Amino acid sequence: MGRAWLRTVGASPDAQIVGLVDLDLTTARTAAAEAGLDVPLGTSLAELLPSVGAEAVLNVTIPVAHLPVSAEALAAGLPVLCEKPAAPSVAAAQQMARAAREAGRLLMISQSRRYYPHLETFRRQVGTLGGIGTLVCEFFKEAHFPGFREEMAHPLLVDMAIHHVDQARFLTGADPVRVAATTHNPPWSWFAGDASATVDVAYDDGSHLGYVGSWVTRGAETSWNGSWRVAGELGSARWDGEHAPTYDGPGPVDPAPDAPTEIAGSLAEFVSCVRTGASPDTRIDRNLLSLATVEAAVLSADEHRVVEIAEVLAPSNTP
Ligand SMILES: NC(=O)c1ccc[n+]([C@@H]2O[C@H](COP(=O)([O-])OP(=O)(O)OC[C@H]3O[C@@H](n4cnc5c(N)ncnc54)[C@H](O)[C@@H]3O)[C@@H](O)[C@H]2O)c1
Repeated sequence: MGRAWLRTVGASPDAQIVGLVDLDLTTARTAAAEAGLDVPLGTSLAELLPSVGAEAVLNVTIPVAHLPVSAEALAAGLPVLCEKPAAPSVAAAQQMARAAREAGRLLMISQSRRYYPHLETFRRQVGTLGGIGTLVCEFFKEAHFPGFREEMAHPLLVDMAIHHVDQARFLTGADPVRVAATTHNPPWSWFAGDASATVDVAYDDGSHLGYVGSWVTRGAETSWNGSWRVAGELGSARWDGEHAPTYDGPGPVDPAPDAPTEIAGSLAEFVSCVRTGASPDTRIDRNLLSLATVEAAVLSADEHRVVEIAEVLAPSNTP
């Protein structure tokens, strides 16, 4: 993913790479060469920050390193754009939120699947449907990721469904209240942990999300954004995650204008917020509810019970 960020920053009029850090210097050297970058390389931020004149840090490390790397950057006075999921636990993400508050710097989580003109059009359509009854998201992919994902206990929920539950929040603005989930790992799965899940999320506006997903799908795959339906008091809207959404509501709804997508969208919003002092919807403290939805789903699946979001956000859950 670091390589994707190098390409995206390279194509952006707003930012440039001034240094590259990886625990493995060979990885950094290879990635820099591939991107045609001649910048200082190091194995820690501490080595580079004093000399490279960075104005921000892009944290594209694995989730367990998000807290220490972001905290180091924030303590050095730099805003951070950090990959999702914010952290492996809500407690660690709460520590990140504290570090950002204490440093007085922006820590934004890159929820890159918020940035599509078609999703923005879909959100506008959903906004005309009156009270929302049900959101449905189906996600079916055959995903091969040699590396940390294939070893995780709940790869689909933790690494992928975070995008979808965050998209649900983007669509309606409602806050999650409780979660019931089951997960399983089909016999043909190449993941060590559960690669399939069925989740019900209840929101504070009375609506529910029904989420069904799998990373070990054979055939009839959905898009990476999943396939969506939102049913409201006044009509319905659907989005296949890829093309223009379809709408059966009181309209009319203007399509959203063109805009940078995926991580280019995150980068553009981050740069704009750093320059203007605006606060993005994915600022770490606001992103906690998306991460909490996933953590509640994992707890629900592991303990076979309904889990309140308040339980995973509780101060007693913070180290
Ligand atoms: N937005 C998306 O669609 C999307 C897609 C893929 C990955 N991601 C996210 O990007 C992040 C990275 O995923 P990946 O697949 O590139 O992982 P990866 O394991 O391929 O690469 C992570 C890199 O970080 C380095 N690293 C680890 N700890 C470090 C530390 N403390 N300091 C410096 N470098 C460190 C590793 O050496 C490795 O080169 C994850 O949070 C993942 O969820 C997001």
